[in-house]
Amino acid sequence: MSRATLDSMSTPAQTMFDEVFQDLPPAPAPFSVAEVRARQARLTAGLSKDTLLLLPAPHESTRSNDVHYRYRSSSDLMYLTDWSEPESMGYAMHDGSTWVWGLCVQPKDTLKEIWEGRRLGVEGVLNRGMVDRTHSIHDRDDLVRDLLTKASRVLLRQHVDADLDELVRVAMTERSRPRQQFGTGPVVLEDPSARIAELRLRKSDEEVAMMRHAAEISARAHVAAMKLPSSGLNERHLQAVVEGGFVYGGGDGWAYPSIVGAGVNATILHYTVNNEPCNKGDVVLIDAGTEYAGYASDITRSWPIGGRFSDAQREVYAIVLEAQKAAIAACQVGAPYNAPHEEARRVLAEGLIELGIISQTLEEALDPEHGHLRRWYMHNTGHWLGLDVHDVGVYRPNGEPRVLESGMVLTVEPGLYFGAWRPDVSCPPRFADIGIRIEDDVLVTDAGPVVLSDACPKEMDDLEAIVGA
Ligand code: GLY
Ligand code: MN
Ligand code: MN
Repeated sequence: MSRATLDSMSTPAQTMFDEVFQDLPPAPAPFSVAEVRARQARLTAGLSKDTLLLLPAPHESTRSNDVHYRYRSSSDLMYLTDWSEPESMGYAMHDGSTWVWGLCVQPKDTLKEIWEGRRLGVEGVLNRGMVDRTHSIHDRDDLVRDLLTKASRVLLRQHVDADLDELVRVAMTERSRPRQQFGTGPVVLEDPSARIAELRLRKSDEEVAMMRHAAEISARAHVAAMKLPSSGLNERHLQAVVEGGFVYGGGDGWAYPSIVGAGVNATILHYTVNNEPCNKGDVVLIDAGTEYAGYASDITRSWPIGGRFSDAQREVYAIVLEAQKAAIAACQVGAPYNAPHEEARRVLAEGLIELGIISQTLEEALDPEHGHLRRWYMHNTGHWLGLDVHDVGVYRPNGEPRVLESGMVLTVEPGLYFGAWRPDVSCPPRFADIGIRIEDDVLVTDAGPVVLSDACPKEMDDLEAIVGA
């Protein structure tokens, strides 16, 4: 082997991602035992001691023949045990003096591990310290039958694991001997989702660090896509670079199917075909985010193929950006959750009136039934974000808008969509087939909103400087 060949081999591989990812902050530490134990304690603080909590994980699902979908465990189980392998179940019960948390997991199995990957096994999972007891998943049914004889209230989300549902049904509907003899056994079945959702809605510092990192990776993946040269570009090339960036940056792959729509496709809210040519001068809308440590990021950027906004595109973009900034500013502790939506709607309507696209008064334009804003802005301005991209948490507890608290994370994603193809409205020709959405991930704090995805540029001048010619 020549000296030159050896030299080139000792140089790290150069990829299109190196430049954009070089300032990626270090990955946060894994969740601490104290963090996970605190989550468990918050949940059990509200439970009576005769409760048995069962947290099933979904089974792997078949994509085709013997190929499975990429496995994703239950967010609730991950939240409460920091455990995400398939063939698992979490539980919590009170032993008379304290709450005991347990996990059933896949046991060590050399042959299976040779084929499928290493496992921590029953003892290894116990050593992590996140739970008090661990068992083989093969012993799960006997364990659950035994636990069910001691509890009178069962917290179980049904329809995740049919076998577990059946165990509980039998224990509740058939007169078991222990129930007859000792007066114990389940009589109440409750879904724990709402209780867990209340906890998941308020993110801890460690969770925020994970979410910030997910957003940092996604932001750089978007920038890598922006830099691609425009010649011969297809939506799929952009999708490949964004999703490649997620993995390159250390993420777990997309948190939801990526939306990459150029030109008219940007006017379709959940467009996922992602396989049309990108024409120079068209705006492309990319709505894509990675998952990291189970946590979703959710970023949308809209920018012109070739790097120059037209005048009409600039006018629309400026309105959406102003609406987005106003909505972010409204993410304040004590504000109702829909304050950002109302701010975004107001700014969008004012902008469209000024452009002559809406010829109603502001009040008329905002009317939920007859207002014309809905023609061009037909979705909400955001949603909770966390372990799920559309995260859990009731928006209107008791019918009243929830008030924002420090630690809540939500997206802010106003847009305008002028689909000239629509038969229901006539689109102003100057703005035909322009679709623009700008989406960031926002943490509510006592010191005001913090944009977790702020590493992704959104000012028009910055985008024009970055986007490939
Ligand atoms: N990508 C889904 C959403 O923005 O809500
Ligand atoms: Mn999105
Ligand atoms: Mn979103």
